[in-house]
Amino acid sequence: MRNAYIAGTGYYVPPKVVTNQDMMQWYDTTDEWITERSGIRERRWVEAGTGPSDLAIPAFNMALEDAGMEKDEIDFVIFATLSPEAWFPGSGCFFQEKMNLGTIGVLDIRQQCTGFVYGLSLAKLFVESGQYKNVALVAAEVQSTSIDLSNEGRTVGVLFGDGAGVVIVRAREDEPGILSTHLHADGRFAKELWVPEPSSTHYPKVTDVNNLHCYMNGREVFKHAVTRFPEVINEALDANGWNKDEVDLYIPHQANLRISQMVAKILGLPEEKFYHNIQKYGNTTAASIAIAMAEAQRDGSLKKGDKLVLAAFGAGFTWAGAAIIF
Ligand code: COA
Repeated sequence: MRNAYIAGTGYYVPPKVVTNQDMMQWYDTTDEWITERSGIRERRWVEAGTGPSDLAIPAFNMALEDAGMEKDEIDFVIFATLSPEAWFPGSGCFFQEKMNLGTIGVLDIRQQCTGFVYGLSLAKLFVESGQYKNVALVAAEVQSTSIDLSNEGRTVGVLFGDGAGVVIVRAREDEPGILSTHLHADGRFAKELWVPEPSSTHYPKVTDVNNLHCYMNGREVFKHAVTRFPEVINEALDANGWNKDEVDLYIPHQANLRISQMVAKILGLPEEKFYHNIQKYGNTTAASIAIAMAEAQRDGSLKKGDKLVLAAFGAGFTWAGAAIIF
């Protein structure tokens, strides 16, 4: 039996720290407001000229080292980002060229906050079908360049950060790994959390620079998130006959500390079972679970053989979960 598993993890965040205090130079806001509403204390921002494919490089190297592999062994790349450096081609092609990965296939996916879990699902299929042996799943975001720094943008602008996470998905015999993934979407809510432009529906693609910023109906997102997170977690548990208490660690997409706390409460789980690093990095959309997984492994919260559940919710709306023997 050929099972896909996570052979290595890596992450990278840019060195520039932007604190809630720093936010006050653009916004009429306070550390207290941001911390109370989201749990975020600081986030990382890139310097100009850095794209997601650049952030992905150190994260990829760390994941390779963790897996004890050379980059030439990678035979496919899946790149998840909502903040690509170009309208096209996708960031994966820039990454492939920068890493000198020859002519291996690259697939970009645009699944926003659920990009990593959707990507994991694809990586599992590629590996278990035998089409590829070693898939690099890259999730990287540069959000700071699309933040509205006028006071109108304060509700959204304080939440997001830049960063990258990578996992290497490989096959092993008999021993289980990525057990199941569960993918969902509801396009009725597409415009409750979106960046409307550039858009191919009109000429030119950008009619108003304000449409390059993220619009979010925060209350609607919150309401759906606290329903869909528990739903998809229960789906992942049920699919594997797992009891919620036997799971060693839950890694939710780092959207908002308050959302995760509420999800833990709804599920009747202690907060310690949920891994959080949003306090340091803000919401790094597709990259957040990958960064959290890599950090959790390094700080001892996540060990080989642990039962791990991932869950994500975000723009689309989309939501997704995964059950993994790490
Ligand atoms: N600093 C200070 N005040 C702010 C602010 C900021 N950064 N942003 C908004 N406010 C003000 C508003 O203007 C409003 O003031 P008013 O009452 O005088 O009109 C007040 O704070 C409440 O605004 P509201 O938008 O209703 O806040 P909220 O309690 O809904 O919290 C979010 C806003 C975004 C934190 C919350 O809706 C949320 O967490 N949503 C989910 C977001 C999320 O997780 N997104 C990622 C999904 S992947």
